[in-house]
This record gives sequence, structure tokens and C-alpha cells, in this order.
Amino acid sequence: MAITNFRGKTAFITGAASGMGRGMARNFAQAGINIALADIDLPTLEEARDEIERLGVTARGYLLDVSDRAQVYEIADAVERDFGKVHIVCNNAGVGSGAPSLDETPDEIFDWMFGVNTMGPIHGFKAFAPKLKKHGEGGHIVNTASIAGVRIAPGMNNGIYAGTKFAVVALSFAMQDAMAKHGIGVSVLCPAGVDTNIYRAGRVRPERFGGPFEREISPVMAQLLKQGLSPDQVGRYVLQAIKDNDFFIFTHPETREWVMEWHARVMHGFDRADALRAVLGINAAPQPDPSKMRRG
Ligand SMILES: NC(=O)c1ccc[n+]([C@@H]2O[C@H](COP(=O)([O-])OP(=O)(O)OC[C@H]3O[C@@H](n4cnc5c(N)ncnc54)[C@H](O)[C@@H]3O)[C@@H](O)[C@H]2O)c1
Repeated sequence: MAITNFRGKTAFITGAASGMGRGMARNFAQAGINIALADIDLPTLEEARDEIERLGVTARGYLLDVSDRAQVYEIADAVERDFGKVHIVCNNAGVGSGAPSLDETPDEIFDWMFGVNTMGPIHGFKAFAPKLKKHGEGGHIVNTASIAGVRIAPGMNNGIYAGTKFAVVALSFAMQDAMAKHGIGVSVLCPAGVDTNIYRAGRVRPERFGGPFEREISPVMAQLLKQGLSPDQVGRYVLQAIKDNDFFIFTHPETREWVMEWHARVMHGFDRADALRAVLGINAAPQPDPSKMRRG
């Protein structure tokens, strides 16, 4: 059941101090939704909380590192204590690193990026799903992936980032499958360039992943972000997707071609498999109809 009446509902948003999370918070608040803002960056979190409160809803800030499972569970309980029922959960916090080529990327960058971008949404889902199910009024979960979660192109050195985001798309699909019978919708947000602070993500890297660092953004990436959508525009897409219970939220229709190019690569792989079956003398192996493989 899609949420139709937003007024007085509560949304929990991670990465809410900046960028798209803040854009979602603004849009949701304008629709009358109370907001629990979570972020690892305390000064901007407080500033964002004040801004959202001025929009006339209840807003509270929670200092949180989404890669820390115990903290996420603790904060989920605190949000429920403070607000009562939570209906919308946006697992949005994420980091990019502008890493060097994959083989030269330090191990702690892998741990940090998978910890925040992939495990963050998993922790958020596991912590909040029982709470959404318990009140039985329906709800919605939005996970922020990226257009890099549905395609990857050579020469961009964004393999780790794409890896973290491909995982978010797959997991979101599994979440949708698990939650549909409870009246809880799931969406996955897949934007291209948005004008945010993502290129400064190193400043909030936790100590256990090597601590804060600064890295120059490439001029191409800087331009891509600057020319991108505003976080508020993305927030509008997200609110609409919750209303319509859409799974994929693509914010840049221009990127359709990119995804088609990726799918053409996948199909080329199948063409090769067809050709090799004859060359290698391998039998046909009929596969079951996926729709008959459901486990309930
Ligand atoms: N900006 C883009 O072009 C773009 C495109 C596609 C996807 N995304 C994704 O959008 C999401 C939001 O990023 P953004 O672009 O708004 O960037 P942003 O840096 O402006 O906002 C991200 C927020 O997440 C917070 N954060 C970082 N690590 C955290 C942690 N461990 N725990 C809690 N909070 C943490 C930051 O402090 C920041 O406030 C991310 O998942 C990002 O990967 C961004």
C-alpha cells in the first residue's frame, strides 16, 4: 500500500546534513512529514536540523556513522522513542573517493566505501524493517544507489564505487520482494550528476578506516557535478516515487543510453556463450522458469 497521506508521518534520513539527503528532508518537510536527520558530520547536521524545523515540522538530529551496525540499531530505537511510528526510511548516506586505479587503491578505501555505501543501507534496513512491520500502517524504504549501480564504463576509475552501488540495487530488489507482503514499498535512487559535497566525502572518513583526508576532484567530475541537478530536484523525484510506489528512481533520463550500452555488453556475453557451446561441444542445459522458483 503506497503512502498517500504524508502529513504527520515520520521519515528517517541518513546523510541528511548535506546534498540529496537534505534535499529529501526539505521536500518531505514541505509535505508535512516530521524528519529524523542522521549524519556523521555534527555541525552541518545541526544546521540542517534547524533549517528543517523552520519549515514547521518536528525535526531532530542524530549523530550516526551508518557503517557501524550497533550504532544504527541504537539510533533506530532512539528515533522510535522520540517520534513513535516511523513510516519512511531513506538509506542515503554515501561516499565517493576519486580513487586511483583499482589495484593501487588502499584496502581501507574498500572497507570504508563498502562499509558506508553498501553495509549502511543493509544496517538501516535490518534495524527499521521490524519497526515498520510492527505498526502495520505501511511504509516506504528508499536506498540511494547511483547510475553507477546499473552501468559501469571503462576508464573512470570508479569500480569500487560502482561495486558498492550495484550491490545496493540488487539488495533493494530483494528488500522489495521481502517487504511487499507487509505493505512496505522499496525504491532505489539512481541519479547521475547532482551538485552536492560528495567530492569532499574524505573529510568524514571514520578513524577506523584511516581517518579524514582531502583529495582533489578531477575537473571532469567537478564539471559533471556542477552541471548536475540540484539536491532539491532529486528530493522531488523521491517524494513522487514514494507516492507512486516506483522501484527505480532515475533522475537523469539522458542516461538511458548509458544503461543500454551496458546491457549490449551483457548481451554480447550471451552471443559468445551461444557461439562457444558449438565450438566446445557443450550440451544445452535447460533452466527452470524463474517464476516457478519462488520460495514464498
Ligand atoms: N552527487 C552525485 O552526483 C551522486 C550521484 C549518484 C549517487 N550519489 C549518492 O547520493 C548519496 C548522497 O550523497 P550526496 O551526493 O548528497 O553527497 P554529500 O556529501 O553532499 O552528502 C552525503 C552525506 O552523507 C554523510 N556521510 C558520509 N559518511 C557517513 C557515514 N559513515 N555515516 C553517516 N553519514 C555519512 C556526509 O556527512 C554528508 O552529509 C550518496 O549515497 C552518493 O553515493 C551521489
